Amino acid sequence: MNFTGAHILSIEQFERADIEVLFGTADNMEPYAQRRRITRVLEGAILGNMFFEASTRTRISFGSAFNLLGGDVRESVGMDSSSLIKGESLQDTARVLSGFSDVICMRHPEPGSVAQFASASRVPVMNGGDGSNEHPSQALLDLYTIAKELQGRGRGIDGLRIAMVGDLKFGRTVHSLCKLLSLYQNVQLTLVSPVELAMPEKYIECLRKAGHQVVITDQLEASIAHVDIVYSTRIQEERFSDRAQADLYRGRFRLNQAIYTEHCEPNTVIMHPLPRDSRVEANELDTDLDTNPNLAIFRQADNGLLVRMALFVLVLDVAHLVDRHAKDVPWHNSRDLAK
Ligand code: CP
Repeated sequence: MNFTGAHILSIEQFERADIEVLFGTADNMEPYAQRRRITRVLEGAILGNMFFEASTRTRISFGSAFNLLGGDVRESVGMDSSSLIKGESLQDTARVLSGFSDVICMRHPEPGSVAQFASASRVPVMNGGDGSNEHPSQALLDLYTIAKELQGRGRGIDGLRIAMVGDLKFGRTVHSLCKLLSLYQNVQLTLVSPVELAMPEKYIECLRKAGHQVVITDQLEASIAHVDIVYSTRIQEERFSDRAQADLYRGRFRLNQAIYTEHCEPNTVIMHPLPRDSRVEANELDTDLDTNPNLAIFRQADNGLLVRMALFVLVLDVAHLVDRHAKDVPWHNSRDLAK
């Protein structure tokens, strides 16, 4: 794909070679993300960060990534504080906001809404999650994390063994990740969910078309025994027409240190797009896993910064200029950069 000026709406836009370009660029962002260097390559540019649905990581990560490249961020948060609530169309909103911005990130509860918005935008639009459809930047940072975590273990994305656990029907991160894994070879996927929250058939078809082995089950322990990655997800209560229905499934698949020790191979990596549901009735990833070095959930979030910085510099065509606009950091950096 040609990144320059492109909307980033779906994983379907990417080929394997594009992922290599993106991940190589993300690696180059590390000194800036870790505040060892400052770059002002996007000085003067404005990101319109439009989040019409709740978010902590994606919104702040896109915004911080843009700031770290020297750009400014303008935000609109929540449907109630935007004129969409007055009946303005997504297209008119796009026509107006793209006059104020150089790139726009958007999250919206309706599947397809970000593409609809992008169709009327004069600047590139990045999908920060459209309902239960896709969350492409999350899948990209997830795959980047998988590659990094497996690097030192003699395993790669080709031949990966992964268990996806939880709400696979509404979980957009796993939908995008399935599409992304379809670009690779010989992946073994175990899809663990309640029957009612199973992975939609179109994603399973996509995996099988790629020649991957797919097992569908509602049994957790046996499914996590021989995998490289356990990728847990939250029950997406906001997607249920009756939220009380979500209570039927919350807490169905819990992972804690005792279960991990008994069933997982040593060094199995634990991932989750976050937020994890830590309420007692859910507790899908117990906090007793927090000291397990194989818990990668916060490294995932850190990697999101690198991948989103990479998306910005590629789409705005400044990847080759980042270092030219760099200088040293004058303040005390209290981060432990070895971590
Ligand atoms: N992973 C993710 O999308 O998190 P937020 O909902 O907090 O953005």
